[in-house]
Order: sequence, then structure tokens, then C-alpha cells
Amino acid sequence: MKKHSIFILTIFISIVYSKFCYVYSSEIILSENAQKGLEIAQEHCSRCHIVSEKNRYSSIETTPSFFGLRKMSDWQERFSEFFVRPPHPALVNIIDVTEERSKMLPAFVQEIDLTLEQIDYLISYVKDLKKKN
Ligand code: HEC
Repeated sequence: MKKHSIFILTIFISIVYSKFCYVYSSEIILSENAQKGLEIAQEHCSRCHIVSEKNRYSSIETTPSFFGLRKMSDWQERFSEFFVRPPHPALVNIIDVTEERSKMLPAFVQEIDLTLEQIDYLISYVKDLKKKN
């Protein structure tokens, strides 16, 4: 009986361990640019979107996850211009590209300032998401 439970426990630990290794290794295969993109996504987009395994359960449910968006054939187009698609124009300011947000907008909306270079990093990150699924 005792041997039996040790066996079960060993199996359990190895499953948890392999899962951990999988998540860990899938993090480190990100290229340098994709890693920067992940950080930008975590800082600015994870408030509403699922952007990685880490915030799978902490986003707003009705908002599409980055995993789901990545599966769409036109994902790249969506990410290249997400800032002109609703609801983002009210939140995102692309430095030197979009007009500065009107001061008439409610002050409680926290603005996101990004550069075009940062959008490229985001796209590199989302591109790499496919490897994980
Ligand atoms: C305040 C919440 C919020 C934040 C912050 C936010 N989004 Fe979104 N995003 C949404 C919602 C809601 C939708 C769904 C819009 C729809 O389907 O009409 C969406 C849709 C999208 C889409 C799909 C657009 C389309 O037309 O299919 C992309 C791409 C996207 N977001 C990227 C981002 C990125 C990148 C960031 C961070 C820089 C970000 N979002 C930050 C709420 C947010």
C-alpha cells in the first residue's frame, strides 16, 4: 500500500515537473525582440487581454486573447493597426504617429504610449506565440 502511494506521488511529481519545464523552456525560446514584446504586452495589454500563460486567468473575459488572435489568418494586420481599431484609439497613443489624445477624454482612462518600434516587438512576440500551441 505504501509503495503504491509512493509510486503515484512520483508520477505526480514528474508530471508537474515536465509541465514546469515545458512552460520554462517555451519562455526561453523567445528571441530578444519577442521578449521585449512580451514585456510590453504584460505591461500594457494584459489589463484586458490574455497575453501569455502567466495571465491566462486574469484578463477581461470578453476581450480576445492573444492566443486566439494569433490563430487568425490576418493576425499580423490586426496587430499592426490595433491602435486604430476600437476600443484602442481612446487608450493608445503612438508617438509621432497618432494625434495626441484629446484632452476631452475622461481622465480616468490610463493612456498607453508606444513607439512604432515597440509595435514591432509586440508583433515579434505574437508571432512566436504559435510555437507554443
Ligand atoms: C482597456 C482594455 C484593452 C487594452 C488595455 C488593450 N485592448 Fe486590445 N482589445 C480590447 C477589446 C475590448 C478588443 C475587442 C474589440 C472588438 O472585438 O470590437 C480588443 C481587440 C484587440 C485586437 C483585435 C483587433 C481586431 O480588430 O480584431 C488586437 C490586435 C488588440 N486588441 C491588441 C492590443 C494590444 C497589442 C494591446 C496593448 C498594447 C491592447 N490590445 C490593449 C481591449 C483592450
